[in-house]
Order: sequence, then C-alpha cells, then structure tokens
Amino acid sequence: ADMLNTQSFGQRIVVLDSTVSTQQDAMRLAEEGAPEGTLVLAEEQTAGRGRLGRKWYSPRGKGIWMSIVLRPAQPLAFTPQLTLLTGVAVCRAIRRLTGVEAGIKWPNDLLIHGRKVSGILLESATEDQRVRYCIAGIGIDVNLNVEDYPEELSHVGTSLKIEAGLEVDRTALIAAVLEEMELLSKLYAEQGFQPIAMLWEALSVTMNRSVRAHTGQGIAVEGTAVGLDPSGALVIETNQGERIQVISGDIQL
Ligand code: BTN
Repeated sequence: ADMLNTQSFGQRIVVLDSTVSTQQDAMRLAEEGAPEGTLVLAEEQTAGRGRLGRKWYSPRGKGIWMSIVLRPAQPLAFTPQLTLLTGVAVCRAIRRLTGVEAGIKWPNDLLIHGRKVSGILLESATEDQRVRYCIAGIGIDVNLNVEDYPEELSHVGTSLKIEAGLEVDRTALIAAVLEEMELLSKLYAEQGFQPIAMLWEALSVTMNRSVRAHTGQGIAVEGTAVGLDPSGALVIETNQGERIQVISGDIQL
C-alpha cells in the first residue's frame, strides 16, 4: 500500500497464497461490510472463474488474480458500465507500464495481437432491485511463458511477458490498475458514462469491425460495431442498416 497513490482503491488488501477464487473471498468480505476498493489478491486460484461459466486458468505466481469490492450508487442497469470502466482501467495500466498496445474486445477481454491477455468478471449482489455491492474480478496473464499454457489455451492466450519480451513487476501493475480504477471512478461519478465510453471506444479493437454476436435472447446478429450506447451496450449496424444493441454474451471478430 506504500507505493499506492489512491484514496480508497487497494487501501485494504487481503493477500492469499492459494484460494479457490478471489471472487468468493471478496464477496464474503463485502457481506461483512468491507468498504469500496477492498482488494483480494491470490498467488494461485484452484478454481478461478471466467465469464459465462468458464474456468479461468490461474497458475501460481505467474499472473494477477484479484477481486475488488465496488459499492456503486447506481441501479443494477448501470453495472455493464462498470464492467467497461474496469476494462479501460486495466488496458490503460498495461499500456502505461509495459508500452504494449493491448486493446479491448467487447465487453471486457483484453487482447494483444489477437490473443487474450486479461479478462474481467463483474458480479453483483442485489436486493429489491438495489445493488448491494459488485465484485470486479480481474485476471491478467503477466509472466506466463509459452510452455505454461495448457494445450487448449496455447493458441488463444498470451502473457505480457511473451508480448513485451521481459518480466513485468506484478506489484507495480496492480498499483497502476488501482490508480486507474480510482481515477476513472471519480470521472464516472462526476461526469457520467460519456467520457468512459469515449476512452473505451478509443482503446477498443471491436469498433468499426465486422462482428457476429448473440443478443441477450440468444438471437444471432451480424454487422459492424459502431459504438456504445449510453447504457454500455454495444451497438451493431446490420447490412440492412438496422441498429441493434448487444447487451450480453460474446462476440466473434
Ligand atoms: C473472463 O474473461 O472470462 C473473466 C476472467 C476473470 C478472472 C478473474 S481472476 C480473479 C477473479 N477470480 C476469479 O475466480 N475470476 C476473476
């Protein structure tokens, strides 16, 4: 916390050697009243969770596996915006610290040369339509070597070390992510989602690309990604000129 230039983000840190998933640990702390910005870090996760029920490979000492407690004042409908904000924060921190030009694939995968280097999982606990808290889970493949990847990830995953050609200081990167999170959260509180959406669009590899996506109802749509709408949904323009919002799910570039 000494090298940390923040007021709330990361001012309380729980460091674990091995855990099932830092999402669970952060959730428990949030239930016990942990304030916004409380951070849980683990050297290894035995059952790291990804989006859409996937697993997240979290080998010991090689990455950043962490979860942050968020206490947003906005209703549940605004949580996609927090997901995008977190992606912008991680992307900016990676660029600032390593110079590697990571880009954001909607909603929140960070890619380098088309391979995934980081993923974000935002989970919310609600009560009567109110958000009690959110947990922003961040996984970054920092110092994995090519041989550290299991077969099924060897063509889709990459690490900062592989891309930058040198070891990256995990502590410095965590501090940078927390600083960006705090900075962007202040911007969001003061000016709303618009400036965040502009930053996201500038860092995104999804914009102006042809994408195939599934809507929340599981309907397949195809078109060009033209931007974010005010709620944080991705807007796709079909070949017929129709604009469709994609609220959840995955896209193929
Ligand atoms: C995804 O891209 O599917 C999201 C991956 C999120 C992984 C992080 S690692 C820290 C936190 N704990 C988990 O179990 N998952 C998130």
